[in-house]
Amino acid sequence: MNLIITREGGNKVKSSEILVVYYSLEGNTELISTMLRDKLNCDLLKIEPQKKERKGTLSKYIWGGKQVFLKEEPELKPYTLNPEDYQFLFIGTPVWAGSYTPPIRTFLKKHAIKEKEIALFCCQKGHSVSTLDSLETLLSKDNNNVLHKGDFYEPNSKYLYDVRKQVETYIRNVITKTTIKNFSY
Ligand SMILES: Cc1cc2nc3c(=O)[nH]c(=O)nc-3n(C[C@H](O)[C@H](O)[C@H](O)COP(=O)(O)O)c2cc1C
Repeated sequence: MNLIITREGGNKVKSSEILVVYYSLEGNTELISTMLRDKLNCDLLKIEPQKKERKGTLSKYIWGGKQVFLKEEPELKPYTLNPEDYQFLFIGTPVWAGSYTPPIRTFLKKHAIKEKEIALFCCQKGHSVSTLDSLETLLSKDNNNVLHKGDFYEPNSKYLYDVRKQVETYIRNVITKTTIKNFSY
């Protein structure tokens, strides 16, 4: 695939090779995802289940935990970006019951994600357990190269300045490993 760089006013360079894709129930993973998009000036894809989600109340743990244990694949709302068109994917998920979230499971089933460079990240409130290792194992079966994994503790509860610094460190780690040129922030 050719490297296509589009200039969008001033000196801003937009890479059409990089996509940040994520699911977020309560905004933590969204915060990291939008920071990545803003820093890298790349495309962003939010995936959302068709069915109404449960937020806020304690019942969300039962609702979400059940989906994880049953390995459910909820139907997603339609979107126009095609992740298969990108060479580099950031994939972000909250940790649910020690695992990645069901919408991410659906997303990975739905697309032929093959031979990509990938960086994974998760948001958690205690421990990410083996969330990102499981995702890495799954993606590696299709010859994807998972370059880096990042774990963020409840970013919405932290100072934005600190979260930005953490995101910058995460990006720097990715940059040292990617083969994509013009990957800068
Ligand atoms: C159904 C459910 C299960 C969760 N399970 C875990 C868990 O096993 N470990 C953990 O550290 N956090 C767990 N959490 C907390 C979330 O991972 C954490 O709040 C995360 O930052 C939420 O991301 P979001 O705001 O993008 O949805 C769980 C949250 C929900 C809703």
